[in-house]
Amino acid sequence: FEPFLSELMAYVRERVPAKAKFMWHQTWAYEVDATHGDFPKYDKDQNKMYKAIVEGSQWVSSTFGLPVIPAGTAVQNARVNGARNNITRDGFHMNYSLGRYTVACAWFEAIYGCNVVGNSYHPSTLSDNRVKMAQLAAHAANQNPFHTTDTGTGKIEPVYDENVQYTLPDALTTEDGTKVKNRAMWEKTRREELLEMFTTEMYGRAPSRPENLNFKVFETDSCALGGIAIRKQIRIYYAKDRYFTVLMYTPKFAKRPCPAFLGINFDGNATVSLDPGITYLDKGQIWRLGLYKEYPRGYNARRWPLELIISRGYGIVTFHNAEVDPDFDDSFRNGVHPHFYAKGQNYPKPDEWGTIAAWAWGLSRTLDYLETDADVDASKVAVFGHSRLSKTALWAGASDPRFALVISNNSGCGGAALSKRHYGENLQIIQQKFPHWFCGNFTKYMDNEEALPFDQHELLALIAPRPLYVASASEDKFSDPVGEFLSLKEASKVYGLYKLPTFSNVSMPDINKPVVKGRLGYHIRQGKHEITTYDWFQYLDFADRFLK
Ligand code: GCU
Repeated sequence: FEPFLSELMAYVRERVPAKAKFMWHQTWAYEVDATHGDFPKYDKDQNKMYKAIVEGSQWVSSTFGLPVIPAGTAVQNARVNGARNNITRDGFHMNYSLGRYTVACAWFEAIYGCNVVGNSYHPSTLSDNRVKMAQLAAHAANQNPFHTTDTGTGKIEPVYDENVQYTLPDALTTEDGTKVKNRAMWEKTRREELLEMFTTEMYGRAPSRPENLNFKVFETDSCALGGIAIRKQIRIYYAKDRYFTVLMYTPKFAKRPCPAFLGINFDGNATVSLDPGITYLDKGQIWRLGLYKEYPRGYNARRWPLELIISRGYGIVTFHNAEVDPDFDDSFRNGVHPHFYAKGQNYPKPDEWGTIAAWAWGLSRTLDYLETDADVDASKVAVFGHSRLSKTALWAGASDPRFALVISNNSGCGGAALSKRHYGENLQIIQQKFPHWFCGNFTKYMDNEEALPFDQHELLALIAPRPLYVASASEDKFSDPVGEFLSLKEASKVYGLYKLPTFSNVSMPDINKPVVKGRLGYHIRQGKHEITTYDWFQYLDFADRFLK
């Protein structure tokens, strides 16, 4: 700062009235993905930049005795308390809603010396929650200008209110207001525009199949699971020395090529069964992925009734989500993302893939492998998942039409459940807890579901006319069973366009009373957020209708 700041202050002091006071405006750090040419000075690291700003303002304040206008800390407070990377308009200038308001609140309190919390000026572009977030962030910054504060607004409680009013966008009306009257219009216009919106605004665009994708079957046992199945383990290489591991069982005594279920597992291939032949990751992989824990063999076997699936004539194929992208917010350094960046890129662009899209990409690459394996009929692959992994299955099914059938098991928010119902988990809660799941653009809709130009029924509609089964659980209110059902019902209109049965006359069924109409199925199972053998029986029966 020196000698410039002293000179500048002396120059100004001579020219302003004696009672004029100086204050120091503490600026803010750039967005995590800012393209500003000076960001590399801070290693493109927002925290590093914020720290440098704090140190600078602390030094100026103590050296010159200047009060600080803590705009930088107010912005940082807003970021850590719910705004995340949704406060600038271009990576460094404040956006015209939350950004400018937060900074204005910081200035207001610093200049007038009165608490801004509760101030009645409420910009029309901001919800009550956002106004509160900004005021608390600015007030906390004035109290504590050199450190961020947990103001508590980051933790929004789920709301369970059936009376929320909302309007759903019509899947069968295009963005320019034209009614979709036939399949051709749906497929060529409306489906395309919806797919583009889900891609760029929600899940993020994933790269296409890498040219050098290759597969290595590194283990086979033709006498697995007590002799009823053939086990194969395959490495899918997407870059030199970079792979994820697929585990596959096919029935030994059934028709082949066989239809199959493909779904991701949470804790490692070895957790799906006690089968001692399933390999664990080697230590290098575990270290590289930042995983610290190995789960015991068969830890999640309750979710994987392999013998049942095999005995019904289906193959079953899986991989561990973390091998494609570990499930934590590490700025996309640990998974597949860095292998697909353009030169100089260090973070996905706002419309590029988050973690769910990366997992879905893994499902598509697994299907690429299955197309090469004569034991499986790749045109008869059902994609499924539980919870976050069924949000993923839905996106895989919507974005990759090669999947023949799609199953949503308790997918909830960001999956089958309608966002605009705002029931249970909502877009603020989910993005706060899992900021890495969706693309950057999706943060616009945190606590702002009304602004969404689409809703999740349209995600389901993208799967039409392929068979689709949605399942909820009675005690899983957080995933909004009613919202999942209504979403399917609304999506079924598009199946109607294909002259297929719809859910238009179906109301929410009782617990454990599955409904199947044509290519659509739904049930609400008694019990908790889980995938159980009861669920599997329904999926097998449903698949029998279409894949046998
Ligand atoms: C969390 C998350 C849900 C998700 C679930 C799961 O509860 O908030 O959205 O479905 O984890 O994956 O089990």
